[in-house]
Amino acid sequence: MDAPKAQFRRVATRSGQPATLSFDGTSILATRGDSVLAALLANGALIRRLEFGGEPRAGFCLMGACQDCWVWSADGGRLRACTTQVADGMVLFAEPQPLAATHG
Ligand code: FES
Repeated sequence: MDAPKAQFRRVATRSGQPATLSFDGTSILATRGDSVLAALLANGALIRRLEFGGEPRAGFCLMGACQDCWVWSADGGRLRACTTQVADGMVLFAEPQPLAATHG
């Protein structure tokens, strides 16, 4: 399958510190202050697939209401990509990740 094309295109130059996050192992370049969803869509990342038919999803409301943009952090936390700002060094996934077993 071809990589998805960017669905967002930045039309205005923003000032701000650059930030890099990882999404499913792919490095995503963003500007601090971007939402995670905007950063992912501007870089062609697929957010997730529909549970029922596997179709690609990319958020819907972009304002925290529809629950269509959940992504997962490495520690198992779930967050809405549209209402979470990018932080440099974020490591995110489209699916929940198995937590490493802890002993002792
Ligand atoms: S796109 Fe609707 S909650 Fe994020």
